[in-house]
Amino acid sequence: MATHGNGRDPRLLPEPQGAYAHVVGWGMAVPSQVLTNQDLAAIVETSDEWIRTRTGVSERRIAASHESTASLGLRAARNALEVANILPLELDLIVVATSTPDNVFPSTASLIQDQLGATRAGAFDLSAACAGFVYALNMAAQSIRSGSIESAIVIGAETMSRIIDWRDRGTCVLFGDGAGAVVLKASESDGGIRSAVLRSDGSGRDLLILPAMASPESQQPGAAPVGARLDKLQMNGREVYRFATRIVGESISQALEKAQLDIADLALVVPHQANFRIIEAAARNLGVSPDIFVSNLERYGNTSAASIPIALCEAIDAGRIEEGDHIAFCGFGGGLAWASMVLTWTGRETGEPRPLGRQRRQLTYARAGWRRRVRDWERQMDDLVSSLHPRRGRLRRLRRRFERQRLE
Ligand code: ACO
Repeated sequence: MATHGNGRDPRLLPEPQGAYAHVVGWGMAVPSQVLTNQDLAAIVETSDEWIRTRTGVSERRIAASHESTASLGLRAARNALEVANILPLELDLIVVATSTPDNVFPSTASLIQDQLGATRAGAFDLSAACAGFVYALNMAAQSIRSGSIESAIVIGAETMSRIIDWRDRGTCVLFGDGAGAVVLKASESDGGIRSAVLRSDGSGRDLLILPAMASPESQQPGAAPVGARLDKLQMNGREVYRFATRIVGESISQALEKAQLDIADLALVVPHQANFRIIEAAARNLGVSPDIFVSNLERYGNTSAASIPIALCEAIDAGRIEEGDHIAFCGFGGGLAWASMVLTWTGRETGEPRPLGRQRRQLTYARAGWRRRVRDWERQMDDLVSSLHPRRGRLRRLRRRFERQRLE
C-alpha cells in the first residue's frame, strides 16, 4: 500500500483537528412482550429445533399496541442520556437509524427530539436497513470531528413485527423489536471512533425489500412474488446469508486497516445480530475465536438497526468492555448495504460532577410534554376561532407568528 513520508496511507481520513468523537452514554429498551419459538410454531409450520439450529434465536420481543419505534427509541435515548449525564438541551443532533419509522415524515428523530425536549438539536432518520446504526454513528462522529457539532445521540430503533408477514415462516421467525442508543461527545483526548468503512451494492436491492408506497413496484398490480404482500418485508434468505458470510470478515478487516490496527488488537466485535452461523463464519474468515463476537440473538432475534446498540449495552453491563479496549461494529443488510467501524472505548466522562442532572432531565421531559399539549391546544383553539370568524383566526395566527419571531 502506498504511504506518505510520514508512513500514513494517503487514502486514510485526515488526522482529527483536536476533536475526537467519544461514546459517553448508552442505553437500550425492549418491549416486555416475549414471543417464543414454541409460540411461533402455533402460527406457522416451524419448530423450536429448526429455528434454534438454523438461526440461534429462541425468543424475540414484540411491541405492544401502545408502543412504537419512536417510543422505544425515546426510552433508549433517555437511558443513554442518564449514563452520559448530559441534558437534552445540550444535544446538537439526533439521528435515528430505522427501517420501521412511525411515519415516512416527519422523521422518528423529530418525534423523539420533541419528547426529549432537545430544543437545540437537528433531527433526521437514516435508512440503511441493518447497517443503519453504523452508518448513522459515522455520520454523527464525522460531524463532531469536523467541528460542526459537539454532541449527538444516535439511536437504532425498530418495530420489525409491524412489517413482517406472519404467514411467511422464512422471515417471521427471524425478527424482533427494540431500540438502543449511544451519546457521542467531542473531546480533546485521543479515543472514540477511529475508522469506518461504508459500502453498498444496489444490484442486490430485491434480496431484502419493503417497497414504499411511492415505489413503482407498489403501483403495479401483480408485481409482488406470488403470495407475498407489498407492505411486508420480502427476503431471499439464502442469498442474503451468502452475502453476509462473505462481507462481514472482509469489512471488519478494511476498517481495522483504516484504523491502523490488527485483528489481534480487538477486544470485542459487536456484529449485527442476524444469525449465529453468520457470526461463526465471520470468526472463521478472520481467524479468531467466535468468543470475541457478542451474541444475544437467542433472546432478541434480529432487531435490524437496533441490534448493535442493544448488544453493546449488554456487553458493557456484562463487563466485557474496558477502558482503552479497541472494539469493532459491523452491520449488514438490505440495500445491500454494509458498514464496519473501529473505536477505542473510553467509557463515561470523568469530568466535573454535574449535580441534579437526573432531576433537571426529568423537568425537561415534563416541560416538553406541557409544551406539546399547549401547542396542540393552541392549534385546536385556532381552528375553532377560524371556523367561527375567518378574519379573526388569520389575525391571531399572524400575531402569534410575530410574537414567536420576536422570542427567537
Ligand atoms: N421452519 C421450518 N422450515 C423452514 C423455515 C422455518 N421457519 N424456514 C424455511 N424452512 C425450510 C425451507 O422451506 C426449506 O425447505 P425445502 O428444503 O423443503 O425447500 C428448508 O427449510 C431450508 O431453507 P433455507 O432457506 O435453505 O434455509 P437456510 O439454512 O438458508 O436458513 C435462513 C434460512 C435462516 C433465513 C438463512 O438463510 C439466513 O439466516 N439468512 C440470512 C437472513 C438475514 O440475516 N436477513 C437479515 C439481514 S438484515 C436486514 O437488513 C433486515
